Amino acid sequence: MRFFRHIVLTSLSASLLLANPYESKEEEIKSVIATGQKASSALLGELGGNLKKELEKGGALGAAKFCSHSAFELTQSVAAKQGQGVQIKRVSLKNRNAANAPLKDEAIVLESLEKLHVEGVMLPEYLVKQVDADTYKFYKPMLINKEVCLKCHGVVTDAALKAELHSTYPTDKAMGYKSGDLRGAVVVTIKK
Ligand code: HEC
Repeated sequence: MRFFRHIVLTSLSASLLLANPYESKEEEIKSVIATGQKASSALLGELGGNLKKELEKGGALGAAKFCSHSAFELTQSVAAKQGQGVQIKRVSLKNRNAANAPLKDEAIVLESLEKLHVEGVMLPEYLVKQVDADTYKFYKPMLINKEVCLKCHGVVTDAALKAELHSTYPTDKAMGYKSGDLRGAVVVTIKK
């Protein structure tokens, strides 16, 4: 009898251990962060590599045309490689492409980051928000971190480039940035 009680108690404590909500939550968040970092790095690598190649090939105008035609699709194709339940996008409060406008919850995060950034607070590499029981959003802040960004997001003086951007994006808000400004964020949405 004592033997059985021992077995029951041992298996009971083992299942309690497995069900420890704190431990599993910690594991879940670790996995969300790993997925977010992998997906956002893949996207930034892909976009950065293509931008460099296109700038060398066709200058700012050629590269802008390339971005217009392919940046959004490239983002979708990187997302497709991350497995089921993972979506990636870039969002900005001053978006060029209307499809990159933030949702309400994303705008709140971007506005908070912007406030901290203008106050001189160093931004974290990433932020994670649990949106509902099954969904997390991983944010990676993006700064105007290279001179080359200003060619298309600073004060654009090249008339042909300006005309091209204006005709493709009549509601373009992504100009007038300075070096070091917060440009937006990569958002990776991860469903359990
Ligand atoms: C050759 C021109 C060009 C250069 C250089 C460039 N961009 Fe862009 N950028 C664009 C275009 C065009 C879009 C819109 C693409 C789309 O339709 O998704 C865009 C969109 C974005 C977006 C998505 C949000 C939005 O406004 O729609 C971010 C974030 C961004 N760029 C950041 C950067 C950063 C950071 C750099 C420097 C590393 C950079 N860009 C350099 C042309 C450029």
